[in-house]
Amino acid sequence: MNRTIQADLVLTGAAEVVTFREAPRGRMGEAVEQTTVRNGSVACRRGRIVYIGPAAECERRVHLTGNGEAVDCAGQVILPGLIDPHTHLPFAGDRAHEFRLRLRGSSYEAIGRAGGGILSTVRDTRAADEDVLVEGCLERMDRMLTFGVTTAEAKSGYGLSLRDEMRQLRAIARADRHHPVDLVPTLLAAHVVPAEYADRRQEYVELVAKQMVPAAAREQLARFCDVFVEEAAFTPNEARTILEAARRAGLGLRLHVDQLSAGRGAELAAELGATSADHLEHVSPEGMKALARAGTVAVLLPAVDLFLGKRTFPPAVDLMRAGVPVALATDCNPGSCMTENLPLAASLACMVTSMDTDEALAGMTIQAARSLSLEATHGSLEPGKAGDLAVFAVAERTRILYHFGINHCRTVVKAGKVVVRDGRRLLEESPEPEPA
Ligand code: NIG
Ligand code: FE
Repeated sequence: MNRTIQADLVLTGAAEVVTFREAPRGRMGEAVEQTTVRNGSVACRRGRIVYIGPAAECERRVHLTGNGEAVDCAGQVILPGLIDPHTHLPFAGDRAHEFRLRLRGSSYEAIGRAGGGILSTVRDTRAADEDVLVEGCLERMDRMLTFGVTTAEAKSGYGLSLRDEMRQLRAIARADRHHPVDLVPTLLAAHVVPAEYADRRQEYVELVAKQMVPAAAREQLARFCDVFVEEAAFTPNEARTILEAARRAGLGLRLHVDQLSAGRGAELAAELGATSADHLEHVSPEGMKALARAGTVAVLLPAVDLFLGKRTFPPAVDLMRAGVPVALATDCNPGSCMTENLPLAASLACMVTSMDTDEALAGMTIQAARSLSLEATHGSLEPGKAGDLAVFAVAERTRILYHFGINHCRTVVKAGKVVVRDGRRLLEESPEPEPA
C-alpha cells in the first residue's frame, strides 16, 4: 500500500509512539494490547488521525497540505491525549484548612459530620456567580491540558438544588465551549443530602429523580448521572430510585461506591448496568465478579486515599485479574483530592496498588475512554479516531510515571491542532467566555 495520505499536522520521529487497545479479558497484556512504534510518526487531517507508523514510511507516504505543520518529536514519547474520567470541576472556595485538620488527626468523615466537607463547598459554590464557576473550570482545564489531558469528565454536586445544579452544569457547558479540553458532563445532584432536607431526605431523593434528572436530560446538560453511595450520603435503594430515573431519561450511569466503607456498591453498580463504578477501596470479591460480568469499568482514584490519610487502597490488580477494566482518574475536587495532575495520580496508583506502568498508561487512555463510552472515537491512536495526542519529553514511556511529580508533557494536540507547545498553552485558541 503506497497510497499518498494528505495531512495538515505531522508529529515526526518520536522515540516511541505508544497506544493501547481493548482485547479479551484478563490482566494487562490480555485485557489491553499495547503497541509501540519506535521511531514513529503520527499524522492528522481535519481533526482526525490519518497515519500512525514508522517515521520512514510516514516521510514517503504522508503529504503535508499547504499550511500544514510538522512537529519534530525526536527523543520523545507520543501517547493518545490523556482522559481524566472523574473530576468535580466546577466549585468555588477551597478547603486547605481541612487538609491541616486531617494532619492533626481529624478524619474526612468527622469534618463532614461537623458541617465542613462537601457541604462547605456547597455553601461557597451556591454563593458564587456562574461566571466565577466558569473561570474556575477554565483555570483547572488549563492545568489539565498542560499535563496532557485532552478530555475530562466533570460533575456537578456542589449545588444540591434544581437551580444550583443546573448552574453548575451550565458552567461546565460554557467552559467546554471555550477550551480545547473536552468535558463530559455528569449530574451528581445526589452527592449528599443538603442541610435544608436533612429531616426530609426522601423528598430530596424525589426532587433529584423527578425534577433534576429530567431537567438535565431535557436541556442536554448531562450525559451521565452519578450517586455517592455511602453511610453519610445515599443508600443503595435511594441510588436505585435516582439512577433508574436517569436511565429512563437516557443518561448513562456512574457511581461513587465502596469508598469509605464496604457497602456492596460494586454489586449495585453491576446490577444497574452502570458504565463505571468509582473508588472501590472496599469492594468485595463478589462485587469484583459482578463488575466483570456487567462490563462495568472500575475508575480508581488512589490519590484520594493518600490525600485523605487513608491507608486502604483499591485492589487494582485483583480487579484486573477478575476481568474488570481499570481506569484511573484524579477526582480533582477541593475536599478529597486537590490536583489536576493525572500522570501524578497514575504514578501514585502504581506505587500503592502495584499496577504496572503500562496498565496505568492504559488506565489514563483507552480504559478511561471506555469508562465514558468514548472508546469508539477516543483513547487510542488509530486512523479515523480523534487527533488527540500528548507528547512527553522522555525517551521511553515508563519514565512518564517513574520520574514522578513533574510535568514531562511538552506538546498537546487536540482535534488535530497544536494547543500546547514547549509545555505552554497557546492562548490564541481561547476566546473570552461570553456572559451568561
Ligand atoms: O469523590 N466521595 C465523594 N465525593 C468526592 C469528594 C468531594 C468533596 O469532599 O468535596 C470524592 O471523593
Ligand atoms: Fe468523586
